Amino acid sequence: MRAVQIVNLNGPDEALELVDIPEPEPSHMMTPGSGVLVEVKSAGVSFPEVLQTRGQYQVKPPLPFVPGSEVAGVVRSASDGAVVKPGDRVAAFCMLGAFAEVAVAPAYFCFPLPDELDFEQGAALVLNYHTAYFALKLRGRLASGEWVLVHGAAGGVGTATLQVARGLGARTIAVVSSDEKERVAREAGADEVLRADGQWKDAAKEISDGGVDVVIDPVGGERFTDSLRSLREGGRVVVVGFTGGSIPEVRVNRLLLNNVDVVGAGWGAYVMSKPQVTAENGKALARLISDGFVRPLVGARYPLEQAAEALKLIDERGATGKVVLEV
Ligand SMILES: NC(=O)c1ccc[n+]([C@@H]2O[C@H](COP(=O)([O-])OP(=O)(O)OC[C@H]3O[C@@H](n4cnc5c(N)ncnc54)[C@H](OP(=O)(O)O)[C@@H]3O)[C@@H](O)[C@H]2O)c1
Repeated sequence: MRAVQIVNLNGPDEALELVDIPEPEPSHMMTPGSGVLVEVKSAGVSFPEVLQTRGQYQVKPPLPFVPGSEVAGVVRSASDGAVVKPGDRVAAFCMLGAFAEVAVAPAYFCFPLPDELDFEQGAALVLNYHTAYFALKLRGRLASGEWVLVHGAAGGVGTATLQVARGLGARTIAVVSSDEKERVAREAGADEVLRADGQWKDAAKEISDGGVDVVIDPVGGERFTDSLRSLREGGRVVVVGFTGGSIPEVRVNRLLLNNVDVVGAGWGAYVMSKPQVTAENGKALARLISDGFVRPLVGARYPLEQAAEALKLIDERGATGKVVLEV
C-alpha cells in the first residue's frame, strides 16, 4: 500500500517520505491480536504529527513509522466487540498509521460515521470532538447556560469546542488572531468573537456579565493569567495544549483569592484504559451530530503525497478547522 512515513527528525520539510509498504495486520498495539482494518478515504492531520517530525512529541516510535492518529473510511474487517462491520463507513482513532491506504484501530475507538458527515469530516471527528467533549463536560463540569471562552477557537480543537459547547447549552466566546479566523469561529457557531491581541479579558467579563464559567485553553503561553482573571467565582480553566509554545505557571494565590480551578484535560491518557467512557462519549457526540450541532469544519485538504504541506500549514499557524489528507 502507499503510505507516508516519518524517516528522520528534521521537521516537516525533510522528515516525510512517500513509501510502498505492506498493509497492517488486523491487530492493534493496544489490543494485540485484535483490531479493525479500515480502507482509508481521509486521514486527519494534527499538531502532534508536526511535533513528531522533530521528535518533540511524547509518543516517540522508532523510525521509520507511519504517523497520523485518525481516519475515516470503510471497514474491511472488524474484530469482536466492534460496533461496526465490514462495509460500514467508520471514523476511527488509530493513534499511528493514519497516513496510509489501510489503517488498523482498536475496536473501542471505531465509531459508525453517520450519513450527515462525509469522509473528510469523519477524519476530523474523533481526536478533536472527543477532546472537546471530555474537556468541557468531564473535566470542565460545564452546565447548560454557562459561558465558555475558547482560545485558538478557529483551530481543530477550537472549532470542535465551540460546536460541542453550544450543543451542551452553553454560550461561547471565541478568541482568535485574524479576520479569517474570526470568520471561521463564527461559522463554528461562536456567539461572540474577540481578538487575541486585544482587550479580550475585559471584553469577555463584560459580555458574560462578570466572568466566564469555563475557559478551554489549547494555546497556553502568556495569556494564561488573563484566562484566570476572566473567570467568575467557581470558574474553571481547562488546560488542553500549548500551541503558543510555552507552558504557563500558575501563582496559586489567584486560585484561592477568586475560588477558581485550573483543571488538566489529557483525553488520550484518560480514555485509553476506559473503553466504557469512550463508548458513552461517542454516544453523546452521535446525538450532537444527529441534532445538528456537530459538523466538523475542514479548512484544508491535501493529497497523501503532500502531507508535508499539511504539516507546514499547521506549523505556521495557518490552519483553520481541520486539515485532512485525501488518501
Ligand atoms: N489535551 C488533549 O487531550 C488534546 C487533544 C487534542 C489536541 N490537543 C492539543 O491541542 C492543541 C491544539 O490543537 P489543534 O489541532 O486545535 O491545533 P490548530 O488547529 O493548529 O489550532 C491551534 C490554534 O492555536 C493558536 N496559536 C496560538 N499561538 C500559536 C502558535 N505560535 N503556533 C500555532 N498556533 C498558535 C492558533 O489560533 P490563533 O492564531 O487564533 O491564536 C491556532 O488556531 C495542540 O497543542 C494539540 O496537541 C490536546
